Amino acid sequence: MPQITLGIESSCDETGIALYQTGRGLLAHTLHTQVAMHSEYGGVVPELASRDHVRRVIPLVRQVLHTADVLLDQIGAIAYTQGPGLGGALLVGASVANALAYALDIPSIGIHHLEGHLLSPLLSDPAPEFPFVALLVSGGHTQLMRVDGVGRYTLLGETLDDAAGEAFDKSAKLLELGYPGGPALAKLATLGRPGLYKLPRPMQHSGDLEFSFSGLKTAVYTLVKQSDKDEQTRSDIACAVQEAIVDVLASKARAALALTGLTQLVVAGGVGANQMLRARLTEDICKRGGKVFYPDLEFCTDNGAMIAFAGALRLAQQQGKKDYRFNVKPRWNLAGITAT
Ligand code: KG4
Ligand code: ZN
Repeated sequence: MPQITLGIESSCDETGIALYQTGRGLLAHTLHTQVAMHSEYGGVVPELASRDHVRRVIPLVRQVLHTADVLLDQIGAIAYTQGPGLGGALLVGASVANALAYALDIPSIGIHHLEGHLLSPLLSDPAPEFPFVALLVSGGHTQLMRVDGVGRYTLLGETLDDAAGEAFDKSAKLLELGYPGGPALAKLATLGRPGLYKLPRPMQHSGDLEFSFSGLKTAVYTLVKQSDKDEQTRSDIACAVQEAIVDVLASKARAALALTGLTQLVVAGGVGANQMLRARLTEDICKRGGKVFYPDLEFCTDNGAMIAFAGALRLAQQQGKKDYRFNVKPRWNLAGITAT
């Protein structure tokens, strides 16, 4: 029987669990989000996150086994997010994964969270083929990578300060929207009138593939302070913020394709769920003969499926181990895991 990999994601505020069978695909996946718990505090409280992962992880593992009609001893390997993320939260997934793998006498493998995001579009149909350019846009990262194969990643450019998701979240906070801010800001922006306010597009014409979003945050702060607080004005500002972020991301993604000569763009990470970004990228890149791939919406934000899947691909390269010693890497550069 082709190997079944259990995936455990616990890097931040979502416990994601999935079962992936090589050659067959995703058997089951489930997610518990802590959004309601953290929203009271306006952001993620790390200690509460860890404690909630402790409560959820085992019941959710049981749940996916039940859904997929798989017995515990049919699992062939366990993949878990080793980093980057919150130290305590990562430790929960890593310790459960290694204890369970030890008990079952099967390999465990630590996965880089961003590698999970990067490879997640391969779970969709149609899937991109290597090589492609990946635009990784999450709450903590904004990177353009050239992807030549599993473990063969070249950094083309990244943010010098805030991530795109952070720009969404911080602007949302200034507009007094809840947490997480990105989806709330995107929703408010649908009521806004495009082009009414012009916000800066930092580094859009810098001639390289680097990003910077901290200046945008300052401009939003000034604009919000000077403006009325009525719903229409707030919607117009949300619209302007979204336009500015999408403009920069789209033009850098286009430039990355031009620079590498590649035609396929993969968009991954939570901000990849943004509908305006999707529409803009599809329009811009298809017009130029390229193709854009997105993970299904549920696999854009954090999830266990991408970890099970990345684990299965890595295990196919004989990278699992059975010594069960583990550490977590709250800060971990994706370029550091590149094989070539
Ligand atoms: O990948 P992800 O789920 O977690 C990290 O690894 O960071 O990304 C979360 C980020 C947050 O900043 C969130 O506000 C943003 O993705 N996000 C969005 C949307 N959905 C999630 N930003 C803009 N529009 C959305 N629809
Ligand atoms: Zn993520």
